[in-house]
Amino acid sequence: MSDKKTSNAMWGGRFAAGPDAIMEAINASISFDKRMAAQDIAGSRAHAAMLAQQGIITDKDAETIREGLLTVLSEIESGTFEYSTALEDIHMNVEARLKEIIGEPAGRLHTGRSRNDQVATDFKLWTRDQFDAAISGLTALMGALLEQAEQGADLCMPGFTHLQVAQPVTWGHHMMAYVEMFARDRSRFIDARTRMNESPLGAAALAGTGFPIDRDLTAAALGFDRPSANSLDAVSDRDFALEFLSSASICATHLSRFAEELVIWSSAQFKFVTLSDRFSTGSSIMPQKKNPDAAELIRAKVGRINGSLIGLLTVMKGLPLAYSKDMQEDKEQVFDAADSLMLALAAMTGMVGDMKPNAPQLETAAATGFSTATDLADWLVRELGMPFRDAHHVTGALVAMAETNGVDLPELTLEQMQTACADINENVFDVLTVQKSVASRISYGGTAPENVRAQVKRWKAELA
Ligand code: ARG
Repeated sequence: MSDKKTSNAMWGGRFAAGPDAIMEAINASISFDKRMAAQDIAGSRAHAAMLAQQGIITDKDAETIREGLLTVLSEIESGTFEYSTALEDIHMNVEARLKEIIGEPAGRLHTGRSRNDQVATDFKLWTRDQFDAAISGLTALMGALLEQAEQGADLCMPGFTHLQVAQPVTWGHHMMAYVEMFARDRSRFIDARTRMNESPLGAAALAGTGFPIDRDLTAAALGFDRPSANSLDAVSDRDFALEFLSSASICATHLSRFAEELVIWSSAQFKFVTLSDRFSTGSSIMPQKKNPDAAELIRAKVGRINGSLIGLLTVMKGLPLAYSKDMQEDKEQVFDAADSLMLALAAMTGMVGDMKPNAPQLETAAATGFSTATDLADWLVRELGMPFRDAHHVTGALVAMAETNGVDLPELTLEQMQTACADINENVFDVLTVQKSVASRISYGGTAPENVRAQVKRWKAELA
């Protein structure tokens, strides 16, 4: 009995034997690339229509192929499709099933095409949807942050450096800092999506094809801006995946930083914010516990997303042109990172929408830790004409005095203040409250409530 029977039906012509079981296991990608079934079928339908348009196959064959592909798609969507590991990947699984359904015309579909341009096209289409999902996920998150900022434009809280109280800021200003970060993430995804939107289809194996194909036609049918200009590059480029992953990594870093703040803020020691029950969990042993699990998991997701980026960068490094099978390792990285990112964005949006800043606690905390010391130094400069360095020194002495007496700066008496600088008068107390402090920070980008409201307005208009 000839082994030839078990060799691959798609390319078994030169093979006497089928693959070893281990070969099949390392080679097959169907277990994960079946996620690109819809993209594969869309690409094939566009290719078949173009082949007919160009007179390369008959209209009748193209129609049969295109209809048959829809049947395959409905089988996949309804869960009746039987995937075969022997057929390696989604491309060959779909084509083999098409052949079972429509017979001979199925064999004409692969004219002027290779799995190399096919997989690049499918994967680009899949990743392009993820760019879009990231962009709309970030838009939603920014919307939730803008609501928080608008509600809390006047609400004072401590601003930190080194996680030590630095100067009072507003809740709205803090929320708007994340709006800026997520806006940059969003623009990175938008920017990369524009760059990636070129069609590899028709690059064939690596060198193009002698068939009179029309790559503009398939590019347009699949929503690409144009066909990619170099066939070698088209089949070996995975920059779009790397740009998705690097944008995702930076975005996940921002999510992680914000998640960390929410973990700290929701602790009993800070009590800055109350997270909703919908995004918290309890403990099976400690009845009092309400844990910020969603925030913790968002904080952690950056680990696997960064892992995916480094994983794919390492796969691509040193690969000669054009296609190499190494590149099959691209998909799981992007699939996993995209799943993680979309989930993290949705969870963060939900948490931000629900969370309640604890105003009394924030206002009290804003006034502790000598947070208006800079305002006092600025007053000495402005009102007494003191050089800033001297004002810094005088204020430092007053902070030390307050600390020794166990009081905050506004609680020092005028007489006590005058021991550090005789010219200080009672007007100084005007600048020592946190409300006055934040209201004075009107420099562009500063924390003043009026600035926050202006920025909220700007971003709402931008996102509308
Ligand atoms: N499953 C393959 C991949 O993901 C499809 C392309 C195979 N091409 C080839 N020449 N063997 O990359």
